[in-house]
Amino acid sequence: MCGIFGYTGSRQDAPEMIFKGLKGLEYRGYDSWGIAVKNGEKLAIERKVGKMTGGISLPKSNLGIGHTRWATHGGVTTENAHPHLDCAKEIAVLHNGIIENFQDLKSELLKKGHKFRSETDTEVVPHLIEDFVKKEGFVDSVKDAFNLLKGLNAIVVVDTKSSSIVAAKNGSPLVVGVGDNEYFIASDVVGILPYTRDVIFLKDNEMVSLGKTISLFSLPMGEKQNPVVEKISWNIEQAEKGKFDHFMIKEIFDQPTIIRNIAQNYSDQVEDLREVIDNAKGTFFIGAGTAYHACLAGVYLFSKIAKKHVNTAPASEFNYLEDFLTKESLIIALSQSGETIDVIEPLTRAAKKGSLIVSIVNSLGSTIYRMGNYKMLLGAGPEKAVASTKAYTAKLAILFMLSFAMVDKLSGARSLLLMAAEEIERILKKENLVTLKELAKKLSKKEHIYTIGRGVSFSLALEGALKIKEVSYVHTEGLAGGELKHGPIALIEKGTPCIVFAPKDDTYDAIISNAAEIKARGGIIVGVSSEKSPVFDYFIEVKDSNLTSIITQSVPIQVLAYYMALEKGYDPDKPRNLAKSVTVK
Ligand code: AGP
Repeated sequence: MCGIFGYTGSRQDAPEMIFKGLKGLEYRGYDSWGIAVKNGEKLAIERKVGKMTGGISLPKSNLGIGHTRWATHGGVTTENAHPHLDCAKEIAVLHNGIIENFQDLKSELLKKGHKFRSETDTEVVPHLIEDFVKKEGFVDSVKDAFNLLKGLNAIVVVDTKSSSIVAAKNGSPLVVGVGDNEYFIASDVVGILPYTRDVIFLKDNEMVSLGKTISLFSLPMGEKQNPVVEKISWNIEQAEKGKFDHFMIKEIFDQPTIIRNIAQNYSDQVEDLREVIDNAKGTFFIGAGTAYHACLAGVYLFSKIAKKHVNTAPASEFNYLEDFLTKESLIIALSQSGETIDVIEPLTRAAKKGSLIVSIVNSLGSTIYRMGNYKMLLGAGPEKAVASTKAYTAKLAILFMLSFAMVDKLSGARSLLLMAAEEIERILKKENLVTLKELAKKLSKKEHIYTIGRGVSFSLALEGALKIKEVSYVHTEGLAGGELKHGPIALIEKGTPCIVFAPKDDTYDAIISNAAEIKARGGIIVGVSSEKSPVFDYFIEVKDSNLTSIITQSVPIQVLAYYMALEKGYDPDKPRNLAKSVTVK
C-alpha cells in the first residue's frame, strides 16, 4: 500500500511534480519517502523518514520516480526508503508488495559481489536488473528480473541510459497517465488527475515501457499488447479537501450526495444483479475491515427485507471457508480500493472453482473490479482518508437497494434512502457538531469504550468501534448487545462509556435493557436513537428512518471519532501504522 509516482516527458520540473504527486498519495503509506531523477548519466536521489513536509533539493529533470513507503521489510529508516539503486547508481527501483524469495535472490547477488545498503526485500531488484542489463536491453532486463520475483508485487524502474521508465506488476495497483508526449505512472489515479484523465490501468502480469513512446507487454513472455486508454470522470475538486480541514470530515459531508446518487441512479444495476443472486446456490459477501462490516449489515438486510439467506465472513477468513464453493456459488466482494489482498486471494481461488464474482468497488480498473463477472462502482468519488466513511455508507446504500430489488420494492428503497440523506444533512448541522465535539472531548480521555447493537445495528457497533479506535487509538470494542452478559460485562466499571445503537426497530427494547445492565454497573450510556431514554446519560438524536438507521446512525460516530482524533492531537487522515489500501498480507 505504498504511494508511487513517476514522470517522463518534456517538462523540466519532474522533481516538483513527483513530490506533489506523492503528497497526494501519502494516505497510502507514509513511514518514509524518496525521489530519484535523471541527472545527466547518473541519478540524483533524495530520501527522508516521516511525512512529506518541507520541500526537496533535487536538480531540474524531465525523468524520475518517487515512492511513499509503508514498511514491510526493514525498519523505518532513510536507508530502507525507496527508491533503491544498483551498484552503479544508474538504475532506481520502487516497489510495492512482498518479494517472498528475496533472501535466496539476495544471497546469490551477494556471492556475485553486489553491495547492499538496506534491509529491504526491494533492493534485490536493481541488482538483478544490473546483471541482466549487461547482456540485454533495459526492458528485457526488467522483464527477466521481475519474472524471478515470487509473491504479489509491483515495480517501477527508471534507467538513465535509456531515459525511460519500465513498470511491471502482478499485484498492487499501477496506472499510467497518457499526456501530450508525456507519461505519468502512479499507484492511484488521483495522483495523475491534475495532468490527464486518459489512463491505462495495468493488469496483473503486464509490463509497460514509457519513454518517447509507450509499449505494453504481457508477462512472463513479454508479448506486445495494445494498451486500452480509459477516461476518468472524476474531477480534481472531488479529490481535494476544499473548505474542510481534513479529508475525513470532507468525506463525511460527501455522504448525502453519494446516497442520493445511488438512490436515483442505481436501479438498473441492482436489478441486473437480482437474477444472478436468485440463480446462485449460496451467496457470500466478503470484505475486509469496514467493508466486512458492510457485508455483515448486508446479511441482516437480505434476511429482513429480501427474506434471503446469505453468508459473510471477513475476507481474510474466507480463505479458510471457501472449500465448499462450487461453480454455482456467488461471491459478492465489497472493497473501496479494489486492491485489498485479503479479498483478492479468496476471489482468485473462487474464480478457479468457477464461482461467479460480483465486484462492488470504488476504484475503476482496480484488481477486484476487473475480477468481477459483474462490476459495480460505488460512485463515492476518491476516498483519501484512511478511515472509510463515505465508501462504507455507499456500500450500505447499494446493499439496501439490492435487498429491496430482490422483492421488487425498489421504489420503497429509493424514498427511504432519500430520507436518510436528508437526516444525515440534519445530523451534520453546526449545532449538532458542537454537541458531538463536546462529547468527543470527554470520550477521548477514556481508556476503554464499548459499542453495542443488535440485529443490523450489531454490524454498526463493530464499525463504530473501528472508526473510534483507528483514528483516536482509544481501545474500543464492538459487541452484540445480547453477548454482554456472556462475559464482556465483567469489564464494565464505574465511568466506563458505552455507545448504544438503539433505533426504534425490533431490537429497541432488548438493547435498552442491555444499556440498563451496563448502567447498573456504573457504565456511562451514550444513546444513539430517535428519542431520549431515561437510561441515556448522553443522547445523540438520529431520527428513525426505518431500516436505513444503519446508514444514518453511523454518521454521528464517524464525526465523534474524527473529533476524538483531533482532541488527542492526531491526524485523522493518516492514523499511525495504517494505510489506505492493504495490498500486502
Ligand atoms: C476502514 O476505516 C479501514 N481503513 C479498513 O478497515 C478498510 O476498510 C479495509 O482495509 C478494507 O479496505 P477496502 O475497502 O479498500 O478493501
